[in-house]
Amino acid sequence: MSQVVAQPPRASSFDPTDWRILAALWHPLAFAEDVAPGQTLALRLLDLDLRLWCAAPASADAFVTVLDLCPLRGSNLAGCRVTDGVLVNPHTGRSYAADGACLSHPAEGGLYVVRHRVTHGIVWGCLAGESTHDLPAWPELADTVTLKQMRLPPLEWACSVSREIENFMDVAHLSWLHTGTFGNRERPEIPAYQLEDLPGGAGYHFAIRYPRRSVEAHTEDSATGAGQVEDLTLDYDLHLPFCTRLVIHFPDGTHYRIYNFAAPVSRRRCRIFMRMARDFDLGGSAEPSEDLQRRVLAEDQPMVEAQRPEEIPLDLTEEFHIAADRLSAAYRRALRDLGLGHPLSS
Ligand SMILES: [Fe+2]
Repeated sequence: MSQVVAQPPRASSFDPTDWRILAALWHPLAFAEDVAPGQTLALRLLDLDLRLWCAAPASADAFVTVLDLCPLRGSNLAGCRVTDGVLVNPHTGRSYAADGACLSHPAEGGLYVVRHRVTHGIVWGCLAGESTHDLPAWPELADTVTLKQMRLPPLEWACSVSREIENFMDVAHLSWLHTGTFGNRERPEIPAYQLEDLPGGAGYHFAIRYPRRSVEAHTEDSATGAGQVEDLTLDYDLHLPFCTRLVIHFPDGTHYRIYNFAAPVSRRRCRIFMRMARDFDLGGSAEPSEDLQRRVLAEDQPMVEAQRPEEIPLDLTEEFHIAADRLSAAYRRALRDLGLGHPLSS
């Protein structure tokens, strides 16, 4: 049975109020296919150490997430193995069921189970049990017929999760920071765009035209690639507070999608789960797309990690804003409406 983790850990780097607000959200823990049968996966969320395993490999939803804490010794569960869905701790001789109950010694306390769900190929956890926000539907992430689905291994950046999300949605930096991949320094001006609300106030959408200077073409025909300028439409969705999608529309009618899901590991550390999908070259290798994505992120990471203050200021007067920052301003207001900002420590 899932239990509620109501209090921040003693070593929490977050303001306690921010921690409780963040604990009542779904956060990505791991790609489901990365949870190897028989083994456990250690991870950290909101300064809490968790451990994840799969209780039944044949079932898409049979994951178990617990606090990484042995109730008997107070140590972690690092040496445990999973046998027939049961977690066995060789150091204590105890075994635990998927609901956390101690099977070998039923009178003893069990493991502290965290509520989870599986969506978009990712195991998500909610420490508070009930989430204040739902996850985006984005059903195309399950489409393996008309889309080639790809992903990167989870990334960890030394920045707050909100800085990472804001950077993903930022269009003002494209021409300056991404000149090694797609940025077009000759066309730095970003037109003011209209910001639309997503249905139900779930977030924001906007689109801009952007003249990408290709370092390589998105098709296999590299002869048309290097140096060529392509007029793209960049279609952004921000599903509050930490899920983002970018759909790139190419002139030939094809699309490339990037999904950025980020989790607050600690106040100044986040974990990024990135998926990509394309509706062209379905039979081709994922490697060129994954490699380009890695190189784009390598351009972003040092800049985002160097941003000060580490948490984005929620007072809009604190940073200079230009027309291309309309999303940023709305995002900061939304985070403040969520109750964060003591100061914002995510
Ligand atoms: Fe970027």
